[in-house]
Amino acid sequence: MSNISKYTNKIICGDSVEIMKSIPSESIDLVVTSPPYNLKNSTGNGMKDGRGGKWANAALVNGYSHHDDCMPHEEYVKWQRNALTEMLRLIKEDGAIFYNHKWRVQGGLLQDRKDILDGFPVRQIIIWQRNGGINFNAGYFLPTYEVIYLIAKPKFKLAAKANKYGDVWKIGQELKNNHPAPFPIKLIDRIISSTNAELILDPFNGSGTTAVVAQELGRNFIGIDISPEYCKMAQQRLEKNKVSSELAYKRQKSLFE
Ligand SMILES: C[S@@+](CC[C@H](N)C(=O)[O-])C[C@H]1O[C@@H](n2cnc3c(N)ncnc32)[C@H](O)[C@@H]1O
Repeated sequence: MSNISKYTNKIICGDSVEIMKSIPSESIDLVVTSPPYNLKNSTGNGMKDGRGGKWANAALVNGYSHHDDCMPHEEYVKWQRNALTEMLRLIKEDGAIFYNHKWRVQGGLLQDRKDILDGFPVRQIIIWQRNGGINFNAGYFLPTYEVIYLIAKPKFKLAAKANKYGDVWKIGQELKNNHPAPFPIKLIDRIISSTNAELILDPFNGSGTTAVVAQELGRNFIGIDISPEYCKMAQQRLEKNKVSSELAYKRQKSLFE
């Protein structure tokens, strides 16, 4: 068994940086991930006073099950830079990382995520335009997008014709998922099917959307999350998805027999 096969198609419960450290270098084709945004240390998004975020889905007021999302900013930046350093070590020379984050206004000024990304090989910023929400602040327009940084090693190339999608993607948020901040299936489908990646890692795997879509598209996955609850949720989604894909396959096959 090669070193990477013991991780392949597994949901691993633990700290992402620690687990990534144990995975061999240049063994992953693609990373797709959305880390916690440190929302609860925000000065102005309604998270502190309990009104919720600017998005329709304000489930994050209650936070994650095993992460309070409220680090001092410098500590948060250091943590995310460590995580990105590991992701970059893990991808192959033609690999890439799709790192989703959100810009926000702090103390009246835009906080983009330059401090996290500085020095990493960011090739492109994709705008993920979501549906709107509620803005509690009269000082600026309602934010309606998040960003996805495409961080790529020099030999990374998209799958044939995928560049036609452009760099602004309008995809609504996921409503049928009990995780407080899930990816929409459509968004991850767009990312994974735009590459030829065979093995895809999500080090902040949550409810397992990246893994579920990878499985659906016949690719391999590794998912890591600190929360046993979310790992269980991901495992259950994968099981369900596997059964329904097998049923669909059998149905399809019987049509031709
Ligand atoms: C934005 S959510 C990811 C949601 C995921 N994209 C989905 O579709 O469900 C971030 C995740 O990071 C996890 N997390 C927080 N700290 C972590 C750590 N140190 N190691 C691994 N996962 C962590 C949280 O439990 C949470 O599920």
